[in-house]
Amino acid sequence: MSALQFSPDGRLQHLLTLEGLDRATLTALMDAAESFRTAPGTKPRRHDALAGRTVVNLFFEPSTRTRSSFELAARRLGADVLNLEIGASSAVKGESLEDTLYTLEAMNADVFVVRHKVAGVPERLAHHAAPQVHVLNAGEAHLNHPTQGLLDALTIRRHKPDFASLSVAIVGDIKHSRVARSAVQALAILGTQDIRLAGPKSLLPKKGELQGELYTNADRAVAGTDVVMMLRIQKERMQKADVPSAAAYFKRYGLDAKRLKKAKPGAIVMHPGPMNRGIEIAPEVADGPQSVIREQVANGVAVRMAVLKSFYS
Ligand code: CP
Repeated sequence: MSALQFSPDGRLQHLLTLEGLDRATLTALMDAAESFRTAPGTKPRRHDALAGRTVVNLFFEPSTRTRSSFELAARRLGADVLNLEIGASSAVKGESLEDTLYTLEAMNADVFVVRHKVAGVPERLAHHAAPQVHVLNAGEAHLNHPTQGLLDALTIRRHKPDFASLSVAIVGDIKHSRVARSAVQALAILGTQDIRLAGPKSLLPKKGELQGELYTNADRAVAGTDVVMMLRIQKERMQKADVPSAAAYFKRYGLDAKRLKKAKPGAIVMHPGPMNRGIEIAPEVADGPQSVIREQVANGVAVRMAVLKSFYS
């Protein structure tokens, strides 16, 4: 997949995964995103880098943050944006992904932003896309969420710029998390060695599948860390006997003020959203002084602007 995302001259043609990208590419995208950040309460600046281009959002799964921020990013760069309502589209009548792509390409769509529960869909679209078209993975099964990985890296860099010296704990349903996979890929590329992956045994990946040390004890995982990234626990999984109840989960893995005290005093708290308050994170921590959760959302717009612009620079 990583080879497909580069054009013959080595430029990023699609963004399907962070795997295979180098530190210079990630750093350049984060630097560009910095220039697009908007201070809270101020009016976002308009740009024309994508004037005359059309960005299509193809979300086969629900989204608040990713879809909205891609739309705002594209508009702030001057593009036309089409949000295809999948449930009211001819996909419901059985039109294939490829025919959906060809149909929208015929309307001069330039960029496809795709989220799908099936692994391989963004790659499949990239494979069939016309040479001038770009495909952006906005969340693929449990495997990839590259712009989330980038916005998480940017958020961390703004608070803790030395990736090599960082200790990062990622806590929750790692096994099913594309956010965790992309975050780990980004951190590894940027030089972080101490990555801790914590959760109930049933929600941890296989040993060696992801870079990082596995923990079933959240207190030990969080101890002495600079960054604590909490993941959404999927409530539907709690019906299964191998996952504790919501109350038991919160006690063992949820981030409350007491558990957060085990991290370094200046540690930041992250969560990709949507949050289950009181299950994986206590409200006072989510809204507390160490939380950068809303900053992650703001950085999402800037990072998506940077990636979109990179296709036309
Ligand atoms: N973080 C994230 O992907 O959120 P959405 O599902 O709301 O896009």
